[in-house]
Amino acid sequence: MAFGDYQFEIYLQGLSGVVPKWPMTFAEWEAKAEAAMPPWVYSYVAGGAGDEHTQRLNRSAFDTWGLIPRMFRASRERDLSIDLFGLKLASPVFMAPIGVLGICSQDHHGDLAAARAAARTGVPLVVSTLTQDPLEDVAAELGDTPGFFQLYTPTDRDLAASLVHRAEAAGYKGIIVTLDTWVTGWRPRDLSTSNFPQLRGYCLANYTSDPVFRAKLAQPPEENMQAAVLQFVSVFGNPLTWDDLPWLRSLTDLPLIVKGICHPDDVRRAKDGGVDGIYCSNHGGRQANGGLAALDCLPDVVAAADGLPVLFDSGIRSGADIVKALALGATAVGIGRPYPYGLALGGVDGVVHVLRTLLAEADLTMAVDGYPTLADLTPDTLRRVR
Ligand SMILES: Cc1cc2nc3c(=O)[nH]c(=O)nc-3n(C[C@H](O)[C@H](O)[C@H](O)COP(=O)(O)O)c2cc1C
Repeated sequence: MAFGDYQFEIYLQGLSGVVPKWPMTFAEWEAKAEAAMPPWVYSYVAGGAGDEHTQRLNRSAFDTWGLIPRMFRASRERDLSIDLFGLKLASPVFMAPIGVLGICSQDHHGDLAAARAAARTGVPLVVSTLTQDPLEDVAAELGDTPGFFQLYTPTDRDLAASLVHRAEAAGYKGIIVTLDTWVTGWRPRDLSTSNFPQLRGYCLANYTSDPVFRAKLAQPPEENMQAAVLQFVSVFGNPLTWDDLPWLRSLTDLPLIVKGICHPDDVRRAKDGGVDGIYCSNHGGRQANGGLAALDCLPDVVAAADGLPVLFDSGIRSGADIVKALALGATAVGIGRPYPYGLALGGVDGVVHVLRTLLAEADLTMAVDGYPTLADLTPDTLRRVR
């Protein structure tokens, strides 16, 4: 089934008086999620660094590009499938790691819900280090859809190795090391309410279930969670340098992808260090304010990657955004905030709706504008908006 067929489903159901349960646009998902989520969870998801200017730029950068329509190239058949690290994926879209996903659903098992949505849609999930359920339990819900594990590299190298080896054993298909969050960015929204969910013991299941982590605790986390949180704080942030890359590379034979890369020199150096993929992102503007939109960094990153797959996120809010990022050279595009909002609205079904909506719009944009395959989407298809 083509992704765009979601619209037929919706229109046909409308003939029997059934209108969609959830809204169709990001702005409405966000507004409804704000009403559905506890304020501290919403603030943590919606907020960013500083006055959130970079976060807004991430979004507005998409408005500076326009896809130019081409006619007499109509095709009922569209092919959005990609090969990524030897995996055949139905679409070039994945769910970005969201370290507070677990508590975005009403039942506080949001990571499991997102994995079930991945199983239903074929959209891969990147599972954060910070989950409410252990990575093994999340993997068990993925069905035939591939999952990736995102590593926040702890200072304890044995713990890092343990997390990576658990991810391998659980069947994850790649390790994504996030480089831009060894220290938390300055986030006024959360600072103003002293809001940091992990310090309250949320989303630490991968630590509390880890034998290396547990071995260093005097009492098990079930008896003394406070001590486990302090132990988490002491190991969480590792200020990695290039000297650490050979060690990271040596941890796994799975594809290794580095997240948070925006400068072409960093791309070249990571490539020389043997990574399998580059993940261009500025963490949705949550880490450092005063920067460029991630989208504006993408073309130089793609050029420097010189054929290495480039994953991209930060600012994707619609299907048209997906198409533009692909046209600028992304191999695959990560959905961030939209899907935790879907989770807050409707659990697994809410996430499935958000993903199907984004994919349908991307597919139909390609159809209408005469770019039926991903190969057709080159930088030439875009013009700067005047
Ligand atoms: C609430 C929240 C939690 C996040 N947690 C993580 C995380 O655990 N690991 C990670 O690599 N990135 C994390 N990110 C960053 C996302 O993976 C992604 O880069 C970002 O959401 C993209 O920006 P966008 O949501 O504005 O599109 C998080 C983002 C949000 C909004």
